[in-house]
Amino acid sequence: MKWSKVLNSVQIPAIGDIKTAEIAGKQICIINDEGKIIATQSTCPHAGGHFSGGWCKNGHLICPVHRWEYDLKTGRGAEGQGDYIDIYATEIREDGLYIGFEESWWSKLWG
Ligand code: FES
Repeated sequence: MKWSKVLNSVQIPAIGDIKTAEIAGKQICIINDEGKIIATQSTCPHAGGHFSGGWCKNGHLICPVHRWEYDLKTGRGAEGQGDYIDIYATEIREDGLYIGFEESWWSKLWG
């Protein structure tokens, strides 16, 4: 696992907020769902809506464009959608929020 710091402690989103952060030129969304920090890809696989304008409901991320839903634990789309989003590992350390990527993902995304 390769860990990268994405936010300072004071930048971590408050409960219910979604922030966009960037790692090596790639955007990701940082979500605070009832105190749990989750990192996902930033755009919706349906038609490219940006999740930063979305919201959380019952453990799901709702896309603001057509309101498709994604499970925040597994990344799976709701029944009938047949799609999924990437969920990245998160760790809050003393100096901020770190995101963890599998080495194979890292090389796939950034070479
Ligand atoms: S673009 Fe996200 S639901 Fe359509």
